Amino acid sequence: MNNDIKEILYSQQEIEEITAKLGKQITTDLKDKNPLVICVLKGAVLFMADIVRQIDTYCELDFMDVSSYGDATESSGEVKIVKDLDVSVKSRHVLIVEDIIDTGRTLERLVELLKHRQAASVKICTLLDKPERRVKSVVPDYVGFEVPNEFVVGYGLDYTGHYRNLPYVGILKPEVYENN
Ligand code: PRP
Ligand code: MN
Ligand code: MG
Repeated sequence: MNNDIKEILYSQQEIEEITAKLGKQITTDLKDKNPLVICVLKGAVLFMADIVRQIDTYCELDFMDVSSYGDATESSGEVKIVKDLDVSVKSRHVLIVEDIIDTGRTLERLVELLKHRQAASVKICTLLDKPERRVKSVVPDYVGFEVPNEFVVGYGLDYTGHYRNLPYVGILKPEVYENN
């Protein structure tokens, strides 16, 4: 599995450091607001587990699974809820945790939905941001790293379901996906 990686972009330690830094900022901003921290499955699951341990205030956790309609190569922008939240967001301060923002379609739809459900506020924390690929104007409140337009996997990010369990973020070797 590690052999499929061309280059490590962000090591386990770099991710740890940025997560601690973001956690401190979030703690300051959301202290005493009892935020509902929402993990967008599945990609955000590793980052979620790490970032919440750096948030030093009362908060609750919930999980949502969304997927894009349309063919596999280009998402249509229609975002379907596969698993909805368990708790109501009404009048709650919400923090969405994502692994990456690419076109922005997933988060645009999610933010719109949470606002429609009358969340008191909606903030976004993403480990990676790929602004070059943006189609929808989603601006995250907390960003770990701005990534170049490369095929990145690891630490939650997958290619055909694999590589999520790598402890770092790396660039996939082109031959891995060109052979498919
Ligand atoms: C990936 C990633 C983000 C989304 C970003 O999820 O984890 O959720 O795409 O892309 P966008 O900004 O263009 O919407 P994916 O739909 O692959 O599901 P997964 O998290 O289960 O891998
Ligand atoms: Mn995802
Ligand atoms: Mg994916």
